[in-house]
Amino acid sequence: MQTYVYLLVFLHIADGCTLGDYNQIIINASPGGSAVLPCSCAGQQDTVPNLKWQYRKDPPHVFYDIYPIEETDRFKGRIQMVNADAPGNFTIQISHLTAEDEGTYQCQDKNRTSNYRLVYLKVKGHKN
Ligand SMILES: *[C@@H]1O[C@H](CO)[C@@H](O)[C@H](O)[C@H]1NC(C)=O
Ligand SMILES: *[C@@H]1O[C@H](CO)[C@@H](O)[C@H](O)[C@H]1NC(C)=O
Repeated sequence: MQTYVYLLVFLHIADGCTLGDYNQIIINASPGGSAVLPCSCAGQQDTVPNLKWQYRKDPPHVFYDIYPIEETDRFKGRIQMVNADAPGNFTIQISHLTAEDEGTYQCQDKNRTSNYRLVYLKVKGHKN
């Protein structure tokens, strides 16, 4: 019986959310348009992961939280969850894009910061 309980605990940990293979995804978008930034756990989840999105413009090489809590005002009202009903799917859509939004985005597990997925958003056709 005790062995069974330990096995369950082990399976529970092994079943945690895995966000990516650490390869950066590139998403292309146009100024004025919108972009879908994918992020989801591989496999079935028995707990809802504690995720967040961050944005980094280079330079400086600093990530800022943008969703669900936003540290800057630049994405205000422009970020929406795409699949809000699916636990473990933290895909967002950013609308009304400008050239300034080009950069690296990171979807990160707040409870396990080494678990993340990187997305590079390219906003093509800008003039500056
Ligand atoms: C993540 O950590 C918070 C606070 O430490 C905790 O309440 C929550 O249950 C954890 N979530 C997961 C999925 O482990
Ligand atoms: C997460 O949601 C998005 C948007 O609905 C969808 O395209 C994607 O396939 C979903 N990912 C998984 C792993 O179900």
